Amino acid sequence: MSLKITVVGSTDRELEGVVRSCGAVPSLVPLTQLPALAQATSQPADVLVVDLRGQGSVPPALSAFRRQHATTGILIVAKTLDPDLILAAMRAGANEWVAEPITHAELDAAITRITAHQTSPAVSQTLAFVGVKGGVGTTSLAVNVATVLSRIATSGALMIDLQVSRGDAALYLGVEPRFSVADALDNIHKLDDAFFRSLVVRGASRLDLLAAPEAGGAARLDASRVRALLDFTSKQFEYVVVDVPRTDPGALDALEVATSIVVVTTQELPAVRSAASMAARLRQRYSKDRVLVVMTRLDKESEISREDVERVLGAPVAFTFPSDYRTAMAALNKGKPVVLSNHSSLAASFERFGRLVAGLQIEKTAPPSGWLTRMTGRK
Ligand SMILES: Nc1ncnc2c1ncn2[C@@H]1O[C@H](COP(=O)(O)OP(=O)(O)O)[C@@H](O)[C@H]1O
Ligand SMILES: [Mg+2]
Repeated sequence: MSLKITVVGSTDRELEGVVRSCGAVPSLVPLTQLPALAQATSQPADVLVVDLRGQGSVPPALSAFRRQHATTGILIVAKTLDPDLILAAMRAGANEWVAEPITHAELDAAITRITAHQTSPAVSQTLAFVGVKGGVGTTSLAVNVATVLSRIATSGALMIDLQVSRGDAALYLGVEPRFSVADALDNIHKLDDAFFRSLVVRGASRLDLLAAPEAGGAARLDASRVRALLDFTSKQFEYVVVDVPRTDPGALDALEVATSIVVVTTQELPAVRSAASMAARLRQRYSKDRVLVVMTRLDKESEISREDVERVLGAPVAFTFPSDYRTAMAALNKGKPVVLSNHSSLAASFERFGRLVAGLQIEKTAPPSGWLTRMTGRK
């Protein structure tokens, strides 16, 4: 996908031309639209070019934009390098500025500085989500965590829907992909940055999706290709979230690169039994501390308690998510993840879990038992 640039508040066709000469097709919006762009739900560009040449001051909506969209680069175009204006713009969160005369070389260099910062993840995390049976809420969880991470990421977040026979992440994200993970796997030896970006579709809040094929089918995954794909994406994105089919060895055996493998269960007896065997299998295959079990659709009235589940698992339940069918269903119907549209406790728990998982990377040196304790709140 090519660079997305939005030019705000410019009446100058020349500026648009210079942006085009930098290889981007800008969308142009008037300054009055800046508050709308600052909404959490708007889909921000990679770079926002704000033309302040007709303004005496920095519009307040700019800092509102920065608060909501931490990862979009903000480039100010000013008439002169007025120190007061520059300081105010910096305080509002601007990354770069150029002054008249606006040249291709200067603008290109500023955009390059912004994107260089955006596109080289210093560290990358791949989070794999495996449901113990269909319908427990794995895709809902994965999509929401991916959305949370896409808002935290400074260099991109990707969701991969490996459910090649019937993936529905695109429905949850309200996007219409033209290509799919099948195209990536079929062309795995030709994969490069530009080709890969043409295969993904961008959802809200800068999340890229490599979707499941629309037609579905009985295709089996080839573990070596999946491994190569996950290797590739871990070099391109700060966060990669994978919806993993539980019955396909081609996926389950290819998760070496995953920093965490999240086994998703409910409290129902068949689910708990599958969770125990799935977690045991994954712990044997990968290192023990990378596999965690979470429980969705928590039912406090259930005869099977969290403690019972933990006894069967022989391990702690790392996190629980409340049951809220109405909220989960409404989000699916709207094609908008719960965390983008709702202040429910379900949204809050997705948000908290996403941030906790992200925090693990920062405290990389902490022993695994440390973060597990932190997540479960118990020793
Ligand atoms: N925490 C939850 N509480 C209640 N219903 C949920 C919850 N999470 C998901 N659901 C609902 O359960 C159904 C299956 O969810 P989905 O995420 O597609 O499950 P899976 O990927 O495990 O098959 C959907 O109708 C969804 O709206
Ligand atoms: Mg699913």
